[in-house]
Amino acid sequence: MSTAACFRLSVDAERIAWLTFDKPGASANALSSEVLDELDRQLAVVERVAPRGLVILSAKENGFVAGADVKEFTTLASVAEAEALIERGQRVLARLERLPCPTVAAIHGYALGGGLELALACRWRVAVEDDRLALGLPEVMLGIHPGFGGTVRAVQRLGAAAALDLMLTGRTVRGSKARKLGLVDRVCTDRDALRATARSCVLGRARPGRPSWLARAMSFDIVRPLLRQRLRAQIARRVREAHYPAPYALIDLWVRYGADPRTGYDAERRSIAKLALTETARNLVRVFMLQDALKSQGADARAPSRVHVIGAGVMGGDIAAWCALRGLQVTLQDRTLELITPALQRAQAVFDKRIRNENERAAARARLVADADGHGIAEADVVIEAIVEDLQIKQSLYATLEPQLKPGAILATNTSSIVLEELATTLREPSRLVGLHFFNPVAQMPLIEIVRGQQSSEHAVATAIALTRKLDKLPLPCRSAPGFVVNRILVPYMFEAMHAAAEGHSIDAIDAAAKAFGMPMGPVELADTVGLDVCRHVGRIVSQALGRPTPDLAQLDARIAAREFGRKSGLGFYLWTAGKQGGVNPAIATAVAATPTTSADDLTDRLVLALANEAVAVLRAGIVSDADTLDAAMIFGSGYAPFRGGPLHYARSAGFGRCRDRLRELEARYGARFAPDPGWDALV
Ligand code: NAI
Repeated sequence: MSTAACFRLSVDAERIAWLTFDKPGASANALSSEVLDELDRQLAVVERVAPRGLVILSAKENGFVAGADVKEFTTLASVAEAEALIERGQRVLARLERLPCPTVAAIHGYALGGGLELALACRWRVAVEDDRLALGLPEVMLGIHPGFGGTVRAVQRLGAAAALDLMLTGRTVRGSKARKLGLVDRVCTDRDALRATARSCVLGRARPGRPSWLARAMSFDIVRPLLRQRLRAQIARRVREAHYPAPYALIDLWVRYGADPRTGYDAERRSIAKLALTETARNLVRVFMLQDALKSQGADARAPSRVHVIGAGVMGGDIAAWCALRGLQVTLQDRTLELITPALQRAQAVFDKRIRNENERAAARARLVADADGHGIAEADVVIEAIVEDLQIKQSLYATLEPQLKPGAILATNTSSIVLEELATTLREPSRLVGLHFFNPVAQMPLIEIVRGQQSSEHAVATAIALTRKLDKLPLPCRSAPGFVVNRILVPYMFEAMHAAAEGHSIDAIDAAAKAFGMPMGPVELADTVGLDVCRHVGRIVSQALGRPTPDLAQLDARIAAREFGRKSGLGFYLWTAGKQGGVNPAIATAVAATPTTSADDLTDRLVLALANEAVAVLRAGIVSDADTLDAAMIFGSGYAPFRGGPLHYARSAGFGRCRDRLRELEARYGARFAPDPGWDALV
């Protein structure tokens, strides 16, 4: 498609030029090479026309510009190619900045990445200040940093402290915060007023504000090197340079060049071109696209509006709260009203934290109704069952529940280990049963496994996916099989940690081995976070179902016997204070043998390959449709190191054959549990 239609330029009677960005056939504006070329041509026209001012705005409903076109990044074959791409963007935005007339970015909704860089190249930024305003430079999340002059202009416009914070965290700034930071100069309340606000910037005599002397002082030549170590230490607390080089490169860029426009743009270009070609950036872009693919599901089904949740425990209570938060009408049932009350209190805390507007908060509260007698069942589009993990109890609930369901309503179970075919045996209409497997904690975990039983209808699956999207979560379709996808793949990984502990490896050494690979937390800490009782239960069920021996879980059982269930009880393998890990549980530190009986060198491979081996088994069994879906499941469902691109992608990069050989070595040294799954042969 020709990009000539991406921009519309008009000049009004006051000789103000209005350049409207409206990429055809797309719901959001993004900056690709073609779009930048087109912008370049439009700027040439503006130069000739010499208007009193130029206003850039977006015709899209959602926002201004969503960023640069990520797909283009995946096609880059060399650093030189990357530099050429970046150079084009820098050149066009420099041309915009050089225009002799006032220039205004008139923003509504989001202006992210390259979109915000475009706005930063304008003299003025005006915005509709509402809940949808979202400004940010999230490039670090893709393993790069701003490249269209953003590393220079953000520091010039905001001062180094605010600009570096924005670029290093990649966070999105919302609402009035954007004005306080100096990201926008003027605000208005709605889109109708945006043009008038932009016009007043062009015609008025005022000049946009600039950072205070103090804010600029941080960029002085003698100050910057002094801050380098501090900035790096801050980043080092979160990520390692070997895994995530971009934030470190960003710090070095600023320390060396201080956002000086004479040298800063060239340095920015060289730095980002190098980063764009790293394995980390490629994998993070891949993860971004996997996420988009998951998000793109569910558009073809009608999203439900009424949900009835049964079981107001850890999961059911939080699921009900999240549904109400996302605008659904929710009734919440348990055996008595007293059992529902704590869930309502937790819901209140969720609303308080996430909804700023008091009226909207009250509306969310009103959408969530305690319903001990189950009046909501007959009205609900979806009934979510989240009661105790027991086949008979679930089945007897279904027997009383099913006759009350309205036609077309679906029954979704949150079971974590019972296969759907077993649950469905007593249903009159087994086709309406589907699995909606949420992860704990519901508010934080982005993934939901959509479990399709042999008898689940297309309607049931499609409704579950549409509900998941309405909840702003990522739907991961999979077949019904023991442990489904994420839990099953985690079992051998967590069990391997228990094997190593039994051999005398300290638990922090085991976790450190996983973190050295890039996991955000090690397997023992993960077990504590999930809950040790839950882990043991799921581990046993999955092992039994797959006919595998359960390993020696003496250490795990000792914790559970002492009623130490992990984070939720303040003590597990680690000590937990206010949800934060505070060192190894002293009871374990003294109990563990001083000298491990096996080599520490193998630890990382043992953990990572136990996990990869199970991933291969799950793929071979056809529980997910393809390798990409599986990788996405592990990244979004368990936090698997995103910069590795997922367990199967990692195995591909490391070499499927080499992974299989290494598993054979581990098998010889540690036992049959490392026997490579037959699925490797097909991959090799
Ligand atoms: P929980 O024990 O915290 O809550 C279960 C609730 O169900 C209790 O409040 C109980 O009173 C209620 N209940 C039991 N029988 C009932 C009945 N016949 N009618 C109405 N209410 C009844 O359990 P949790 O942890 O919330 O688990 C619920 C389900 O979610 C289980 O199937 C579990 O496997 C699954 N799950 C649990 C996760 C976790 O991390 N806890 C993660 C993902 C799934």
